[in-house]
Amino acid sequence: MTGQELREKYLEFFKSKGHTIIPSASLIPENDPTTLFTSSGMQPMVPYLLGEIHPMGTRIVDSQKCFRAVDIEEIGDNRHTTMFEMLGNWSLGDYFKKEQIRWMFEFLTKEVGLNPKNLYVTVFRGYETLKIPRDNEAVNTWQELFSSAGINSEAIDFSEKNGMQNGRIFYYAVEKNWWSRSGVPANMPLGEPGGPDSEIFWDFGAELKLHENSEFKEQLCHVNCDCGRFLEIGNNVFMQYVKTEKGFELLPKGNIDFGGGLERILAAKNGDPDIFKTDLFMPIINKIEEISGKKYGESAGIYDMRVITDHLKAATFLIADGVVPSNTQQGYVLRRLIRRAIRYSLLLGIENNFTKLISEVVIEIYKEQYKKLEENRNTIFIELENEEKKFRGTLIKGLEILNKTINNLPVTISEGIDYQEDTQIFAKRIFDLYQTHGFPLELILEELKNRNFKKFGEEKIIQIFNEEFKKHQELSRTASAGLFKGGLADSNVETTKLHTAAHLMLSGLRKVLGDGVFQKGSNITAERLRFDFTHIEKMTDDQIKEVENFVNEAILVDADVLRQEMSLSEAKASGAMGVFDDKYGEKVNVYTVSKNGVVFSREICGGPHVDHTGVMGHFKIQKEESSSAGIRRIKAVLI
Ligand code: ALA
Repeated sequence: MTGQELREKYLEFFKSKGHTIIPSASLIPENDPTTLFTSSGMQPMVPYLLGEIHPMGTRIVDSQKCFRAVDIEEIGDNRHTTMFEMLGNWSLGDYFKKEQIRWMFEFLTKEVGLNPKNLYVTVFRGYETLKIPRDNEAVNTWQELFSSAGINSEAIDFSEKNGMQNGRIFYYAVEKNWWSRSGVPANMPLGEPGGPDSEIFWDFGAELKLHENSEFKEQLCHVNCDCGRFLEIGNNVFMQYVKTEKGFELLPKGNIDFGGGLERILAAKNGDPDIFKTDLFMPIINKIEEISGKKYGESAGIYDMRVITDHLKAATFLIADGVVPSNTQQGYVLRRLIRRAIRYSLLLGIENNFTKLISEVVIEIYKEQYKKLEENRNTIFIELENEEKKFRGTLIKGLEILNKTINNLPVTISEGIDYQEDTQIFAKRIFDLYQTHGFPLELILEELKNRNFKKFGEEKIIQIFNEEFKKHQELSRTASAGLFKGGLADSNVETTKLHTAAHLMLSGLRKVLGDGVFQKGSNITAERLRFDFTHIEKMTDDQIKEVENFVNEAILVDADVLRQEMSLSEAKASGAMGVFDDKYGEKVNVYTVSKNGVVFSREICGGPHVDHTGVMGHFKIQKEESSSAGIRRIKAVLI
């Protein structure tokens, strides 16, 4: 099946159920300064889900182009992309759960022809604290459907310890199967709608041994496992509650928000877990093969080809929606995409300008569905060519100098020893690369990483780079330190991340050094965290490592950060750490960092914190020293 066929089938199917087909909104949200890109199908629908009347009625269907910048450096596996299409159907206070589940089952099994034996679903377990019951209605409807297809339909209360137990339907907790614009219930502001959801997974089958060959092989596989055997292909959100002062109340009428991955459903249909093998990507890959003379397959080029394919597809769409490469906001993300694609093209031996050739293929694949591509054809070519012309020369020259710099690196740096002078010299050379040759710092850091250069003291280099940068004051203030560190991060984002890191670190310190550890003060800037705590002796290197590992573990599992309001006594009873107790009023906020029942940290705090730890990067303690009698001081960074 082709992407175009699948998209058509979906739109037509829901049209036959009384839905109006609407076009995709722009990748750049209108009137929403809180976010840079449209990253899900529901985003443009928010006002209507909140009660505004949609001019097209109460049943809407579309295929929405989406872009997720957070994933840029993650691209390369067989199923993640920055740019994708989300199939979406909405009931705005019209039909509800039963209809949605029945139609979705019918669509997937009859229209698309997916074997129901390979479909698995998850449902909401319920949330005692907020008196929101488990979603029996969804379970009953799914059971009816699976049973009618002659398939076991047992509903299992999922636990990682027991695995799937031959179940078909799995209850998961609020962290997985609740959806609102702001995440879990505790993070929702009053007046916001939300509700339980039911996700649909495709099983590529045990035969492919995806789990056994993955880094998760020690754990039991399950639908939410990251090994790739099960692919989430869609999510039915039953938006039926609104958060009020009294708790969660049922809305007079529930809404449906369905989001399905076009590329992923196609991969399921084609029985190949590599979404890049679908016709929404393959012509692009073929073009890269043609230009590079290399083959997409088991060889080393597979990763590079996926990066180029994803990035240039996204870049083509972004330019069509009016973005131009620049040093701020959306333009900066676009610039990164193009530059990364060019960098990866060098690895495939592509020496001539090629981005325009790729975008021609992208336009060809999508021009029927997305008219703006054809309309903006020339602009797309011009922007890509200009950026490539500017950057390719820089890149080649820059890499040459970088290689020389690395080859002549003092042994202190390659061994990770912070010998002040050497580090300083190295960082200054890198700044020169940026200053004279326009070589972006993040690309330099990536190059070092790709050369397995783990111990080069990245944080030190960023710090010196930023110092040099300030001295030169080349760009506007908005494009300062944070920009070079993580793309668009501004100083608030950085301090928020470090704040969450401080919580995790305190927890780690208590674990490693014992319950005698209490926080005595902390000071956070965009660059670093300073933290004073009670402890008599100097920490050993091993203890420092252990604390770092504890924090990095919490980051690695992408733990959720949950805010709950409670009385001080409830907070204490819940085991929350209280810092500076007497400063708090009657009601306090408790922030819990946890994943699948494992609590990493629980602390009374005024916030703000990140929503989930995966965004934080890598935690490193730079210094541990005495502050005053019985008090130690740590300086730590996120890199
Ligand atoms: N809005 C829901 C999601 O993005 C469908 O998962």
